[in-house]
Amino acid sequence: MIHAPASHPFSVSQSGARPSVAIIGAGCIGLAVAWRLASAGCRVDVFERGEAGRGATHAAGGMLAACVETEPGEEGLLPLTRASQALWPGFARDLEAASGLPVDLRTDGTMVIALTADDAAKLRFLHGFQRDLGLPVEWLGGAEVRRREPFLQPGVAGALFCADDHQVDNRKLAASLRRAAGAAGVRLHEHCGEVALAVEGGRAAGLLVGDVLHRADCVVLAAGAWAAGVPGLPDAARPPVRPVKGQMICVRMDPRLPLLRHVVWTPGTYLIPRLDGRLLIGATTEERGFDERLTAGGQLALLDGAWRALPGIAELPIEEAWAGFRPGSRDDAPILGESGLPGLIHATGHHRNGILLTPVTADGIARLVLTGETDPLLRPFGPGRFARRPAETGAAA
Ligand code: GLY
Repeated sequence: MIHAPASHPFSVSQSGARPSVAIIGAGCIGLAVAWRLASAGCRVDVFERGEAGRGATHAAGGMLAACVETEPGEEGLLPLTRASQALWPGFARDLEAASGLPVDLRTDGTMVIALTADDAAKLRFLHGFQRDLGLPVEWLGGAEVRRREPFLQPGVAGALFCADDHQVDNRKLAASLRRAAGAAGVRLHEHCGEVALAVEGGRAAGLLVGDVLHRADCVVLAAGAWAAGVPGLPDAARPPVRPVKGQMICVRMDPRLPLLRHVVWTPGTYLIPRLDGRLLIGATTEERGFDERLTAGGQLALLDGAWRALPGIAELPIEEAWAGFRPGSRDDAPILGESGLPGLIHATGHHRNGILLTPVTADGIARLVLTGETDPLLRPFGPGRFARRPAETGAAA
């Protein structure tokens, strides 16, 4: 049994009793943290203003791409993304065992393809950068790319390939997390409307749900792109998160003739073939607030980018199109840890990496709640990095 140290940030008894926890947000992050904490013996309540597993969890593509998505300037995220990537197979196994529901982890790897000589030159530069970081990314010539993916445009010039960059079905992940959390004793409160943080005596006391105060030793803010708007948050504990809109499209492949096996990044889009025959095409990146309308330009860009790489999609029926909101932070990195307001922990700001970072976030936040210790992997991503310096507040230096 883990005993709370004297410096524990939450008001747990020194007898070793587990803290009670209230979580705002039932996306993959909130549900995974809840599952881990309830499995460790905590009383956990998750509050969701709508339906669990919607938001970015529903809208995402489920790519677990720690390697091929790394571009210059993003090296700081690698220890966290690679650690989470390594956790994924065990996390998926545990979750499927606990829930009895599959998450369709698919391990065929990811390709980033070049359609022109220009694309190939850019990709070779990126390849050098990623190889210098020690990432397991290899260069494939055009003939080898066509051998592995025969339906790609015949002129494909080459590709980066990473065998470690997998994918999971994020919607199945949500259903599985929901079932596992419930089996572990998590109480899930859906359609709550807006919940507010309750602060008493300079610390988080729980959540106000309508007029009712739900008391908890610890509150975890896992509200994704909506995290900054939660009422009751003191300004100093408000995470700098904004919605970054992404439109997507899903087409249905002929089950007798799947057009793709790998996740494929093209110069304009990415393509994610699911085991059930769906082919996801994503995604735009737009600063439009919470405007979830699909636009002609956005849909055109996705279809055009996909068709240039994989002409066979022209024949496929469109099954669905949607928009979602990545929780983008001020530096595009997640915000994980003690908020500065005692009793309130942030687990948000995952931007393009929420599904990938679910296991490492769940383990790290659970450890923080249970022991008061911050995992060294999470330390660079604490909310404190956004604290205003004296010059910004107008105070004398
Ligand atoms: N991680 C893919 C995206 O954000 O569109």
